[in-house]
Formats: sequence, C-alpha cells, structure tokens
Amino acid sequence: MLFTPFTIKGLTLKNRIVMSPMCMYSCMDESGLVQDWHKIHYPARAVGQVGLLIVEASAVTPQGRISVHDLGIWSDAHVEGHRELVRLVHGQGSKIGIQIAHAGRKSEVPGAIVAPSAIPFDEKSRTPEALSSEGVAETIEAFVQAARRAKEAGYDVIEIHGAHGYLINEFLSPLSNRREDGYGGDRDKRYRFLREVIDGVKTVWDGPLFVRVSTNEYHPEGNTPDDYAYYARLMKDQGVDLIDCSSGGTVPAAIKPFPGYQVPLAEKIRREAGIATGAVGLITEAQQAEEILQNERADLVFLGRELLRDPYWPRTAAKALRVEIEGPTQYGRGW
Ligand code: FNR
Repeated sequence: MLFTPFTIKGLTLKNRIVMSPMCMYSCMDESGLVQDWHKIHYPARAVGQVGLLIVEASAVTPQGRISVHDLGIWSDAHVEGHRELVRLVHGQGSKIGIQIAHAGRKSEVPGAIVAPSAIPFDEKSRTPEALSSEGVAETIEAFVQAARRAKEAGYDVIEIHGAHGYLINEFLSPLSNRREDGYGGDRDKRYRFLREVIDGVKTVWDGPLFVRVSTNEYHPEGNTPDDYAYYARLMKDQGVDLIDCSSGGTVPAAIKPFPGYQVPLAEKIRREAGIATGAVGLITEAQQAEEILQNERADLVFLGRELLRDPYWPRTAAKALRVEIEGPTQYGRGW
C-alpha cells in the first residue's frame, strides 16, 4: 500500500509517503524569506520520490516565529520564494504543502511573546502576555492571510500547526489556557480559537486542509487522546481533511519515544472520529510503514528524521518491499 496513490479532496498523491514538517532555521538574515537551502533541501526529496512534502513551520506573524531564523509567510513579500519552491517540487513530480504556525509562548524571538494566558512554559521561560481580544482577532486573521498567500504560491496542501505547545495548542490545553472570555473554559470554549482559525482559513482555501495536533499532552490535567478524538470530530465537521497525529510539547514532560510510539494515537483518532489520519514518529522501516497502512491505522505515513538522513528513502523502502518504482528519468537504469 505504501506505493499506492492516495486521493484527498481532489488531490492525488503518487504514494503514501509524506515528509513531515521540519524547521531548517536557515533564514540567517532574519527575513523569513525562502533561501537557497530550502530550494535544494525540499526538491531533493521530490527527486527521491516522496509523494508529499510539508514545508516546515512558517510563521504567520514575525512574533510567531520559534526563532529569528524561521521561514515566514507573514507578508506578501514572502509569496515569491514559496512560489519558486512549489515550482521546483512540482517539476520533480511531487506534491507540496506548507505548515502555517504561530509559536505563542514558546517563541524565542526577542521582545514580548504572547499566549492565551500569562503562564510561562517552564521556570526558565519568559512569561507571555495574554492576548487581548483584539490580539486574538488579529492572530486569527494572520492565519487567514497566511493561507491566502499559500494559495497564491500554489501549494497543494495547507497544514495548520496545532501541536507541540505552540499557540493553537496553548488555547486547546487547560494547562496553558485560563481565559474567561469565551476562548477559555471547557473543552468547547478552548477549541474556539482553532475553530475560528479553521473557518477563517476555509474562506480563502478550498484545497486539502490538514491539522497537526498533539494527541497526548502527557499530563494528568492536560488534554487526553479522548479529548483529541472529540476535537477531531469537530474538525471533521468543519471540513478538515486529515489529522496529523503528533504528541507532546505542551508542557515539559519526559517522553521515551520508541518506534511507532504515536501510531496508536493516529489509529484511535481515525477509528473514533472517522477522519483520515497521518501517523508520525520514529517510522523508519518500509515494513513498519506498510503495517500501519495495511492495518488501517493511518492513511499516510509522515517521516521526519529518516528523510533527513536518506532523501531517497522511498527507493530504499521500495527495494525492501520488492516494489518497482520510477525514479528520475535522468537516472535511467542507474536508479
Ligand atoms: C521537527 N518537527 C517539527 N514538527 C512540526 O510540526 N513542525 C516543524 O516545523 C518541526 N520542526 C522540526 C525540525 C526538526 C529538525 C526535527 C527533527 C523535527 C517534528 C517532526 O515533524 C516529526 O514529527 C518528529 O521529528 C518525529 O518524526 P521522526 O523524526 O521520528 O520521523
């Protein structure tokens, strides 16, 4: 199944292999503009026959960057570089999406940082300012404008970053959201920020929409996988196409990852919410990826670090599964 096509919201991927979004921290001039590095790094994985690449967390506001070296999509000046990246990847026969993100209280950018409530991530972190109601509205609008730019750049998929303790996750989690204004309180109120981001994005974007969430917050008072199955049903009702099931990062927690450790989360969300899922986290072997798909535990497999180590992992996997796949025509029988 790994090398069977997958169609989602009218977009057909040539296989089920997705490159997970990974920050390259390569905008050394702090402009957030696409750099030569990105134009080499991403198309190399397209040459390697990855079906879908998701470009790293790209900040919807300068303050929403994790670091000053992050990629950005906060201004119209960013569109041209993204358009070039899309053109290069399409030229090698792969599809390409972008993850739009706001780091919230986990931003390491100098100056004030923002979050739902004035609660720092840990004792070493800066205390964020609680977003005012205007700040909330402006931030939602920043996600919408980022989606509009992603569309102008020609991306095939938009992924909203709702995981890893960044701003959207901070709204969802009772550990970081103590608001009393309709954006905090019970589960539905904590979901309101993400609800409005999704609704806003959908006013400018009608292509496949993915949301990455941390389906386990690893804290007794945090959201549980059951809570995320509930949120996934809400997202499905809003027209989200796929939940990319990551975990952690909401609060400091010692996680001991092992191969496929987040796959049961993707499986649970898929079964209980009836929505397509992506599995991610220490998926490195072809048979392991095949098992996830054959047992209907997820619809797509996302690989992170293994695709950093081996940009041609699809070829490695095809050999292991004894499947013939096409390589770049230029390589002919050398592939
Ligand atoms: C990441 N990860 C990540 N996740 C995300 O949602 N947005 C991002 O921009 C990043 N950035 C990032 C950079 C680097 C260098 C690494 C290694 C990881 C997490 C990544 O997408 C993936 O979920 C994890 O790495 C787990 O998958 P693997 O690496 O075990 O396949």
